[in-house]
Amino acid sequence: MAIFSDNIESDKPKKNKNPITQSASIEYDKTFENSIRPKNFDEYIGQSTLLETLKISIEAAKKRNTPLDHMLFYGPPGLGKTTLAGVIAEQMNAPIKITSAPALERPRDIIGILMSLKEGEILFIDEIHRMNKVSEEILYPAMEDFSLDMTTGKSQTVKTMRIPLPKFTLIGATTKAGELSSPLRDRFGILKRLEFYTIEELSKVVKRTAGILNIEITDEGAKAIAKRSRGTPRIANRLVKRVSDFAIVKYDGIINETVAESSLDILKIDEFGLDTTDRALLKLIIEKYDGGPVGIETLAAALSEDVRTLEDVCEPYLLQAGLLQRTPRGRKVSPEGYRHLGVKHAAIQGSLFD
Ligand SMILES: Nc1ncnc2c1ncn2[C@@H]1O[C@H](COP(=O)(O)OP(=O)(O)OP(=O)(O)O)[C@@H](O)[C@H]1O
Ligand SMILES: [Mg+2]
Repeated sequence: MAIFSDNIESDKPKKNKNPITQSASIEYDKTFENSIRPKNFDEYIGQSTLLETLKISIEAAKKRNTPLDHMLFYGPPGLGKTTLAGVIAEQMNAPIKITSAPALERPRDIIGILMSLKEGEILFIDEIHRMNKVSEEILYPAMEDFSLDMTTGKSQTVKTMRIPLPKFTLIGATTKAGELSSPLRDRFGILKRLEFYTIEELSKVVKRTAGILNIEITDEGAKAIAKRSRGTPRIANRLVKRVSDFAIVKYDGIINETVAESSLDILKIDEFGLDTTDRALLKLIIEKYDGGPVGIETLAAALSEDVRTLEDVCEPYLLQAGLLQRTPRGRKVSPEGYRHLGVKHAAIQGSLFD
């Protein structure tokens, strides 16, 4: 049985100034996220191509009575990597241990976990790109041969012992697949990127969450929230929660299109789903750096933001929505980005005087 503990590392809202993540306490967010987390394939919305492949691998592993191949899930935050690991454990009827690379700093941390695993158990390591070299090298034989190579003694008397481990499945998750070392990457049998969700898929997420929160919502209301959720179920869920607060306090308790749109306007989530941090980032590049290119460190310092928050939370969606461009010399606002902020693009302005 898959058990989701409340201390899943990845559930920490990332440090940022997003009004949505700031408005709720971390503890509250964790409980809310865990209570609405899909537990099986039927509840898991979207990512259909990925789910098809996974279902086949699960079926095959069950028929062969072997553990699943090691898997790596990557993609922007909040798209369902941790959730998927739990769903897989549930489908395999296997226990799951959840940890994250920063919690495995000392070799004995990873050795302890590996030695405690049971046959067929799933080990989920979040932020796996942050594994240190020593712990990572302990993982290599564990993943490849289900064994631990331990050395004892010093210099001339050094001996290597091979300790067999139960056959387990490692599921790694990362927002930065590019930062994974290639020996580690190569040891995963299945590597899958999670995609941003469509409006239709997010509408389903919104309706499901509204149902769990016991709040009435119309199709148009769900769609209005979905449209501003940046392709991300975690954001969709937070917006449902916020909008439902407005619906209960200011309206008649039902979320329709007007209630959704006016609540999101008050929360300063625009029709692209951009929040104040996203807009501040684009505006800064336009106003202070002539549209860019400008380095991410400079932008982070000017916004008093963490570089990682900008890279992991803000950028992926701005890039995918075509509002921001990444160049070798830094970030640039696209003509679409200018248009979205209602600012005339310099090239367009310039051409009037050529
Ligand atoms: N496919 C889905 N269907 C419905 N809800 C989903 C789906 N994927 C994610 N969610 C919801 O979004 C929330 C965030 O998902 P999850 O924690 O799995 O994201 P993540 O990819 O692991 O993010 P991070 O990179 O920050 O760790 C979950 O609590 C869950 O309720
Ligand atoms: Mg996660």
